[in-house]
Amino acid sequence: MGEDRMDMMVVREFDPSRDVVGVEEVERSCEVGSSGKLSLFTDLLGDPICRVRNSPAFLMLVAEMGGEIVGMIRGCIKTVTCGERISRRVKNNYSISNKPVPVYTKVAYILGLRISPSHRRMGLGLKLVCQMEDWFRQNGAEYSYMATESDNHASVKLFTGKCGYSTFRTPSILVNPVFAHRVTVSNRITIIKLTPPDAELLYRRRFATTEFFPRDIDSVLENKLNVGTFLAVPRDSLRFGLWAGSDHFLSDPPESWTVLSVWNCKDVFRLEVRGASRLKRTFAKTTRIVDKAFPFLKLPSVPAVFRPFGLFFMYGLGGEGPRAAKMMKALCGHVHNLARESGCGVVATEVANSEPLKLGIPHWKMLSCAEDLWCIKRLGEDYSDGPVGDWTKSSPGLSIFVDPREV
Ligand SMILES: CC(C)(COP(=O)(O)OP(=O)(O)OC[C@H]1O[C@@H](n2cnc3c(N)ncnc32)[C@H](O)[C@@H]1OP(=O)(O)O)[C@@H](O)C(=O)NCCC(=O)NCCS
Repeated sequence: MGEDRMDMMVVREFDPSRDVVGVEEVERSCEVGSSGKLSLFTDLLGDPICRVRNSPAFLMLVAEMGGEIVGMIRGCIKTVTCGERISRRVKNNYSISNKPVPVYTKVAYILGLRISPSHRRMGLGLKLVCQMEDWFRQNGAEYSYMATESDNHASVKLFTGKCGYSTFRTPSILVNPVFAHRVTVSNRITIIKLTPPDAELLYRRRFATTEFFPRDIDSVLENKLNVGTFLAVPRDSLRFGLWAGSDHFLSDPPESWTVLSVWNCKDVFRLEVRGASRLKRTFAKTTRIVDKAFPFLKLPSVPAVFRPFGLFFMYGLGGEGPRAAKMMKALCGHVHNLARESGCGVVATEVANSEPLKLGIPHWKMLSCAEDLWCIKRLGEDYSDGPVGDWTKSSPGLSIFVDPREV
């Protein structure tokens, strides 16, 4: 773009009182799938900032040209685990305990970058990223990261080629439909709903060293979008069948157990699959009708995804023991039934590529994304390395904590 046109471009903070319509127009123009192909449309329910609003600090910028909004970007900042170190503690004057403790860093996340198709390749995307990064630096963030589909060449080239990001992690997004029938949960497993303080204690004790674990996990668990935290244990493993709190549980856990939390994205945004042929839609509808009429057949019916639908997101998945995958399957069945009662179309989650519990998470390949590409950048060189060193160069762990506030 010529210098003069670039001069006409203004980047400023999103103003909800006058920008909603303009932002929605850009959003819509970016979602048009090529003809004949399915595309996923997102309805932000009139609140363009909804996908970052639950983070401790967030900002949305818009790019304006001649009074028209032509692009936007959202960003948020929080403190998360980037690694662990061993803390040596002397107990009772002689025995020494080596306990892994988390190392935290302030990290920023970029999402929802969109430039209207008529204004691409003019340097606007790059400018929005740079301005957002300025805000990140001013607020003390040490790293910035973003997630994109690995086949989104424009986005990958912009971030890795022009902005200095490097490819970092490749977690998998797993999506399962919500059927018309209820899923049967094994009666050899007991599912307990934990209170937010109990869930917090369990997460801090067992998962605080997992990469991307948010230090403000308490505010995630207490958020009104949090449906709950559920723990699966073998039936009869609780003494007198009673739950005595996480502290007690962790001091003598059963051989196998699993935990997960559920976030209600249905109240934040709706999705819709567009561009499906009449044949596909009719087939989907037929499976649904049959499933509704004969729920005992347990038919894997296609939900009504061709009109706006909501989703439940599962996060904080973890556990241990030889039966952990089976128990994870039971928990997912339980979440399926909760999502069904809430009228959701799908249940989704995102886990590390190497996550051992992945085996127990039911999902449809055609709805899932095997490789979500996360790219990261170090925002400054002027701070000490700390015990982890440069996080961007570290190797991935078995698990990753995907924050539901950024879905
Ligand atoms: C990705 C996107 C934001 C890029 O915005 P943009 O304003 O066109 O990007 P810029 O003009 O600032 O491009 C800067 C550099 O990125 C790279 N790039 C951008 N678009 C590209 C494309 N289509 N193909 C290859 N490289 C591309 C180039 O290196 C480019 O520099 P150059 O033009 O000097 O070669 C835009 O294509 C878009 O809105 N896409 C749809 C939504 C999306 O995918 N968002 C990203 C999700 S995080």
